[in-house]
Amino acid sequence: MDKICILDMGSQYTHLIARRIREHGVYSEILPNDVSINELKQHNPIGIILSGGPSSVYEENSPQLTEDFFTYTSNKRIPVLGICYGFHLIIHQLGGKIKPFSNKEYGKTKLEILQPAQLLNSLEKEEIVWMSHGDQAESMPPGFEVLAKTDTSPIAAYANEDLKLYGVQFHPEVIHTKKGDVILENFIDRIVHAKKEWKLGNWIETAIEKIRNEVGLKDRVILGLSGGVDSSVVALLLQKAIGNRLHCIFVNNGVLRKNEEFEVQETFQKVLNFENFHYVDAEDLFLERLKNVDDPEEKRRIIGHTFIEVFENKTLELEKTHPDIRYLAQGTIYPDRVETSATSNVSAKIKSHHNLTLPDNMMLKIIEPLKDLYKDEVRKIGMELGLPSSIIKRHPFPGPGLAIRIIGPIEKEKLYILREADEILIEEIKKAGIYDSLWQAFCVFLPLKTVGIMGDFRTYEYICSIRVVESLDVMTANFAKLDWELLEKIGTRIINEVKGINRVVYDISNKPPSTIEYE
Ligand code: XMP
Repeated sequence: MDKICILDMGSQYTHLIARRIREHGVYSEILPNDVSINELKQHNPIGIILSGGPSSVYEENSPQLTEDFFTYTSNKRIPVLGICYGFHLIIHQLGGKIKPFSNKEYGKTKLEILQPAQLLNSLEKEEIVWMSHGDQAESMPPGFEVLAKTDTSPIAAYANEDLKLYGVQFHPEVIHTKKGDVILENFIDRIVHAKKEWKLGNWIETAIEKIRNEVGLKDRVILGLSGGVDSSVVALLLQKAIGNRLHCIFVNNGVLRKNEEFEVQETFQKVLNFENFHYVDAEDLFLERLKNVDDPEEKRRIIGHTFIEVFENKTLELEKTHPDIRYLAQGTIYPDRVETSATSNVSAKIKSHHNLTLPDNMMLKIIEPLKDLYKDEVRKIGMELGLPSSIIKRHPFPGPGLAIRIIGPIEKEKLYILREADEILIEEIKKAGIYDSLWQAFCVFLPLKTVGIMGDFRTYEYICSIRVVESLDVMTANFAKLDWELLEKIGTRIINEVKGINRVVYDISNKPPSTIEYE
């Protein structure tokens, strides 16, 4: 299958570029900027994109391409498109000049097209693009032609047809660049001539076939099911491939949302007919270990380790009746494996990541059928496999659950309060018809007591913070500008219906500098 590789220069948009390329039907993968030519050869890319990044090309230790990079791409006639930092890097490494620019260009800018060539084909004479840079191209090496400029950047896009090198100073991958998709399509169709072979329909059949070949006709597979979209899609895929030789373990860790344990059981046992669904109630064990713990990282560590222990014990128990359990399936997806260095200016690292690392003595082989997919692709596959939309469209819920939404130590009473408040929030958000357009909506328990008045009585109760965010890529998020009346209704209901809360606040922080979760 034709593949376009994206070399990561540290931009927060690197994954977005990869997703956009896939949306155009071409498979894409992210590699570190200093990938060796030997490794690159193994990927056999038909085109390469150099991402943006926060550094300046002339700074010491800024991401650079290996010396033989351009020899390799020009010998093999592989087109290279540089975006922002990548745009600078091509010029810089081939002998042109990049200089700091006193007026940082940030946000929407008017681009004037001087000569569309293939890259800017079918664009108007003027287009709105999204810029974010502090450097500028002053001079280009021979053979480069300027395709476009802005009021402040005399060189805003270029092409060198002989060497098949192209660059844009702006970001075609973000939606604020109106014709960004056209530019990426021009690169794919007119310059790279990539075959559009990345289709999810074929993906399902191939994945099922692969699982069958790997697991064979006898062995069994164990899967930790969280009820989230990734592990649920893995479960359905495995059920299709090997039927009831799949064993799902669902652990109640005591920090789930209200009724979550019942809903997940109902869906998998009754709606999806999973025969080997094993529910483990470990609430008491988790809450005992979390007692008096207030450090967020310590909470995460305890929950992670306890989960592994509970999961391992259940697996060992199942192995007594099914000694042919030989595989462990995981819902790892592509962004879990490929970590981009969003803010640092050191070169990006590709790291292998497992949500769950079992002790070696379990000797289970790992299967990760979703490891090359993005979340939106996983959702589409879930839809085709018949996963209920309530699971597909569910907002992300962190592994450590409500433990990181209760500030300070966790107690049953606080969990009860938070669950009740959270249920009201989600119910109202769904009623207002906006659930699907939000990234996450949840309540946070603030262990601060303030004074209130209920009827004739003075109250002294806790605060509930409402966090509702919109996001496209989780790296950045904005607080949702909810309707005042909706907020008022939610706040009033929580205060009236949830004993223990007498004040509700709305969180108006964006990420960055805040994070989505509180801990
Ligand atoms: P932050 O708070 O870093 O969250 O802006 C980004 C996204 O990650 C989720 N999140 C977690 N998910 N384990 C998880 O499985 C965790 O420890 C964790 N912490 C944050 C968060 O819900 C959001 O979607």
